[in-house]
Amino acid sequence: MSAVSFQSVSKTFNTSKGLFQALNQVSLDIEEGEFFGLLGPNGAGKTTLISILAGLARASSGSVKVLGRDVRDDYAEARRRLGVVPQELVFDPFFSVRETLRIQSGYFGVKNNDAWIDELLESLGLADKAQSNMRQLSGGMKRRVLVAQALVHKPPIIVLDEPTAGVDVELRQTLWHFIARLNREGHTVLLTTHYLEEAEALCSRVAMLKHGNIVKLSPMSELLKSASANVLQFKTDSLLPTAMAERARVTGRIVQIPAQDAGDVEGLLAGLRQGGVVLEDVEIRRADLEDVFIHVMNEQEHSGKGVAA
Ligand SMILES: Nc1ncnc2c1ncn2[C@@H]1O[C@H](COP(=O)(O)OP(=O)(O)O)[C@@H](O)[C@H]1O
Ligand SMILES: [Mg+2]
Repeated sequence: MSAVSFQSVSKTFNTSKGLFQALNQVSLDIEEGEFFGLLGPNGAGKTTLISILAGLARASSGSVKVLGRDVRDDYAEARRRLGVVPQELVFDPFFSVRETLRIQSGYFGVKNNDAWIDELLESLGLADKAQSNMRQLSGGMKRRVLVAQALVHKPPIIVLDEPTAGVDVELRQTLWHFIARLNREGHTVLLTTHYLEEAEALCSRVAMLKHGNIVKLSPMSELLKSASANVLQFKTDSLLPTAMAERARVTGRIVQIPAQDAGDVEGLLAGLRQGGVVLEDVEIRRADLEDVFIHVMNEQEHSGKGVAA
């Protein structure tokens, strides 16, 4: 049984400018125990998909199941199997951190939960804030409480919607250390992010979403292989030969050209020398997910249609 199953999920919003389709027939199965990444630029539809999963929004068509329970027809059972960390900071300012977590336990009918609450506080670096009022906490600390709140009923599936957007390095490390541990212990993780480095480090499989369409679905390792393995990077003030300019990504003076292997790099360097291009700060690096992302998105621009690989 899939941990999460999206079947042909579409979502249309009524806006002042007319109908807007935020999700278009999204189908996706996430298996138990996976650390799955849902990637895409801002506005791709990631939060909309998570909101439908969490029962906060209704799909216009299609269905979503959590461990076999339909999120609409069997809402309570589906919801208790999920721990959702929302993108927006929402909380009740009148309670202390510990009260907030106790109330959330009560909401899920979990009694005598203090041992687990203590462990959550400890693991998320919140132990000395247990008695603090929510409104006294910094943004980063509130984010930690949101994570603790999502995990208070030990859900088999953990969903994090851009949990590290605008968050400091220390919290990122605390958070990933803890979430990776829960994943090793068997929890399924669904993470949305536009930080590709993070996804590359954590996720075993990813889907790329663009304008509400899944444009790529593959294991992380294959995704990295599918693009050129290397990138030749340098700085220059010279104009590139046309054939090379078409392959290159240019940001100001920085030029990045995908290359398959060492032979390809040699060919590029020879071509650049012939074209009289003066190079500075030459580097050869391994392609990362950002390179792959740009490659996939460009492919989509050129073919014009979303296709799941
Ligand atoms: N309640 C809404 N009403 C109208 N449009 C919406 C609403 N929620 C989201 N959208 C639009 O749907 C698209 C996808 O948004 P969202 O799911 O938040 O993207 P992401 O999380 O990938 O950045 C965006 O263009 C956004 O403006
Ligand atoms: Mg979002």
